[in-house]
Amino acid sequence: MKTLITYASKTGTTEKCAKEINRQLKNSKMVNILNQNEDINRYDCIVVGTPIRMGMIDKKIKKF
Ligand SMILES: Cc1cc2nc3c(=O)[nH]c(=O)nc-3n(C[C@H](O)[C@H](O)[C@H](O)COP(=O)(O)O)c2cc1C
Repeated sequence: MKTLITYASKTGTTEKCAKEINRQLKNSKMVNILNQNEDINRYDCIVVGTPIRMGMIDKKIKKF
């Protein structure tokens, strides 16, 4: 099963979590939302990570 992990991170915590998930999965790719141009149809599972600020998720993640 192919997994895409895409995330936003302002101060690095979400990125750390994404890295750990990526490390534990067998067939996964990790992409910062700023560089996200993967065809999501090529993946079986999408993991989305975002910090929350004032109750709001990251804008680019929301758009994605
Ligand atoms: C200004 C500010 C506002 C925040 N607001 C929320 C919030 O509303 N809800 C929440 O659960 N966490 C909130 N947090 C905590 C962040 O979501 C948390 O520290 C997160 O791990 C940061 O991720 P990042 O290091 O990947 O940017 C806030 C943090 C900051 C600095």
